[in-house]
Amino acid sequence: MNAPTSDDPALFFDCHVFVCTNVRPPGHERGSCARKNAVELRDYMKDKAKALGLKGVRINSAGCLDRCELGPDMVIYPEGVWYHYDTKEDIDEILIEHLQKGGRVPRLMLDPNTTPSKPAK
Ligand code: FES
Repeated sequence: MNAPTSDDPALFFDCHVFVCTNVRPPGHERGSCARKNAVELRDYMKDKAKALGLKGVRINSAGCLDRCELGPDMVIYPEGVWYHYDTKEDIDEILIEHLQKGGRVPRLMLDPNTTPSKPAK
């Protein structure tokens, strides 16, 4: 993996959040985040980030992030931290603890070895 270098330009956003909102047909073997309330919760996250006055944070919809069975999920860069979430309370915790305070929400984090048989919470 390429590490940042001193020649790289400054970050345009301090944090860039990619929220999977991919939708697949009902009954698809991998499921999809949009069928697990991802669109409504993405909208909630954007509105709440504005209400909190978060600066330098961009929240974008993303296509499939290829961790469908663990969804709904999101990934935050530049840290590359993945989260699973289910509720508005989960979103609030990610916004406040990670994006506002610079911390983490361990109970919702997905590590590279998290599999569908080992849910995050
Ligand atoms: S459908 Fe969301 S990660 Fe694939």
